[in-house]
Amino acid sequence: MADLDRQVHVDRNLALELVRVTEAAGLAASRWMGRGDKNAADGAAVEAMRKAFDTVAISGTVVIGEGEMDEAPMLYIGEKVGLYAKAGGGPEVDIAVDPLEGTTITAKGGPNAMACVALAQKGGFLHAPDVYMDKIAVGPGLPDGVVHIDASVEENLANLAKAKKCGIGDLVVCLLDRDRHKDIVKRCRMAGARIMMIPDGDVSGVVAVSQADTGVDIYLGSGGAPEGVLAAAALRCIGGQMQGKLLFENEEQIARAKEMGVTDPSRVYGLEDMARGDVMFAATGVTTGPMLRGVRHLGTSAVTHSIVMRSKSGTVRYVEGHHNFARKPLAFQG
Ligand code: FBP
Repeated sequence: MADLDRQVHVDRNLALELVRVTEAAGLAASRWMGRGDKNAADGAAVEAMRKAFDTVAISGTVVIGEGEMDEAPMLYIGEKVGLYAKAGGGPEVDIAVDPLEGTTITAKGGPNAMACVALAQKGGFLHAPDVYMDKIAVGPGLPDGVVHIDASVEENLANLAKAKKCGIGDLVVCLLDRDRHKDIVKRCRMAGARIMMIPDGDVSGVVAVSQADTGVDIYLGSGGAPEGVLAAAALRCIGGQMQGKLLFENEEQIARAKEMGVTDPSRVYGLEDMARGDVMFAATGVTTGPMLRGVRHLGTSAVTHSIVMRSKSGTVRYVEGHHNFARKPLAFQG
């Protein structure tokens, strides 16, 4: 087999392997749905995801993870994961994880929690510190630069409506329901746009701009910077535009970001600055949302619903997994 063919083969297999990883985390987290313990839900997802990575044929480095080595026992930034992590060999890749995107949602049994993972060639992801990121995103098929993070809400809505050949009143803005977004909400309403507020989970909030059936036209507002990188990886695959700007609260955060390679704290990051080269993204629903159905437990089995996509081919697959616990090792039953 020619080298190129082999590479394509590896990529394709990897994308599907990633689904196994998010399925494991999703199954484990779903056991904690509505039980009021977000840390237990998160811990279960992290542990299951960490175990599942051991079976994936990569030599991976976690660059977006659960925190620094001294604050996270597993999937910490810099941790080596994958079948070849210790022995060497296998494709060297960088990994971004959010084993449970929506810990509070899961604890309350609310909608739209999911387990997600993205994978890039080495050096492909922005090493985002754990600070907020201001985000703006729109779907595919629009002129480049139709919206800009430094433009006013009114200007962005007007330009987007013009490009979509509709009125501002036809547009739906998605954003996290947070006090810090009061001004954006007020300005959107004054301009006549409609709003979809989500309680948590801005990875799927951003990705919603690229999925016609969600009805979301634009994502605005701030959320976690690591979640911003995961969302950027997904948009690189599915199409769309996104910009992000890190928001620092003090000098200490700026210093930490510098250690992680952020030289200009006020830089505007485009999609390619956050997720470069060939990237893959996979997510499994924990609780049901617009993108994915949550895990359904059926006694001796469970059904998962996942999405997996690759930037190279632009293929987006939905995978329904039927897990037979009688034949599955205990560690992967969730
Ligand atoms: P968790 O899964 O850690 O609970 O994060 C959920 C989330 O809503 C993210 O999607 C989002 O980026 C971030 O929290 C926003 O942070 P905050 O709740 O502080 O506004």
